[in-house]
Amino acid sequence: MNVFSQLKQSAIDYRQVEGLTHAFYRYPARFSPEFARSAIQLFSKPGDLVIDPFMGGGTTILEAFVSGRRAYGCDINSLAVFIAKVKTTPLSNGAIDNVTAWAKMVADCMSFRAPTSDLELILNDVRAKNLSIPSARALKKAVAIALNLLDDLATSPERDFARCVILKTSQWAFDNRKQSTPLSEFRERIVGNAHEMAQELKEYSRLYRREKLRLRDRTLVQCDAADIHKCGAFVGDKAAMVVTSPPYPGIHMLYHRWQVDGRRESPAPYWITDSLDGHGASYYTFTGRNRDDFGEYFDKVVKTMASVRKCLKNGGHVVQMVAFADPERHLKQYLRSMNEAGYEEVKETYHRIRRVVPNRKWHANFKGKTAAAREVVLVHRAV
Ligand SMILES: C[S@@+](CC[C@H](N)C(=O)[O-])C[C@H]1O[C@@H](n2cnc3c(N)ncnc32)[C@H](O)[C@@H]1O
Repeated sequence: MNVFSQLKQSAIDYRQVEGLTHAFYRYPARFSPEFARSAIQLFSKPGDLVIDPFMGGGTTILEAFVSGRRAYGCDINSLAVFIAKVKTTPLSNGAIDNVTAWAKMVADCMSFRAPTSDLELILNDVRAKNLSIPSARALKKAVAIALNLLDDLATSPERDFARCVILKTSQWAFDNRKQSTPLSEFRERIVGNAHEMAQELKEYSRLYRREKLRLRDRTLVQCDAADIHKCGAFVGDKAAMVVTSPPYPGIHMLYHRWQVDGRRESPAPYWITDSLDGHGASYYTFTGRNRDDFGEYFDKVVKTMASVRKCLKNGGHVVQMVAFADPERHLKQYLRSMNEAGYEEVKETYHRIRRVVPNRKWHANFKGKTAAAREVVLVHRAV
């Protein structure tokens, strides 16, 4: 199979995201590791710099890094930076085992009867709001107990990994659940997740050591992609390529909230990872308050991609997966914005790859349009 067929095959691959540390968090609208991997192999070589300006859960960053590229990831969402950091930070087997033992100890401490006096500060954190509804209250206390015990771990990477174990378990327990999760299941799950994630992190850490990777070859920054050219030292060291997926026009996506009890939006992921929240959905989606006005969306595409252009070599490729609720209207506009930002579409060899996204929880903003989204893989070249 040639590499482009491979890219196509991986783009239409509907299997669950897994392998290495990819399953540490279900980041909304993440793409498959296979897709990122084949794009990276197709348009870059070992040692090259690969950028993802909208890195989300860090799929591109992890894949670029383990295939010997230098990786530069940026996202406006502090949660994305936290997740990408934990997924790419190797730990010793001893440190990983400390976290699995800690999770077992924490699960044993989770009880309705545990005193709340030393949990007050954590429980009253504003980022834990909406977890006080009756169906979530017991689990809120269980999470607070776990957060309170983080100090039992000696190093900051161990604590971050432990936070990620709590995060994954809590996402499973709270986000989009039709029924509330019993405490006994939560306790079992946190221990199970810790074991599973430990195996995955050990595998990644072995690969890291075997391939002699260096953490300084992966950079993660929280910034607006419209400023990415100011964030790194790209002047003498431009990127060979970009693999990314930006926010999507007309598709409402909750990058920064969980839906507790089916509908209440909760900033709990920021509470658990102790990261900064404080912005509304439009901040993370290029969209202004008036969601029917796409002018603001496309202005933002031009601004961010023009900034990315300054970090990219002439002729460098941009491979992106974009979903459109209304492709007829928005694909053309999207392509115009890319031209304005300094790119031309590579059409001679590569046809656009399209796929319909199944089972994704996202909503088109238009009345009367389908809620299923169609994703398109676009390949551009910096001119
Ligand atoms: C479709 S998601 C990327 C998912 C990613 N490919 C993955 O596999 O997890 C789009 C990301 O763009 C980020 N974002 C939105 N506006 C941004 C901006 N102005 N600058 C940088 N990142 C932004 C969102 O926070 C979100 O994480």
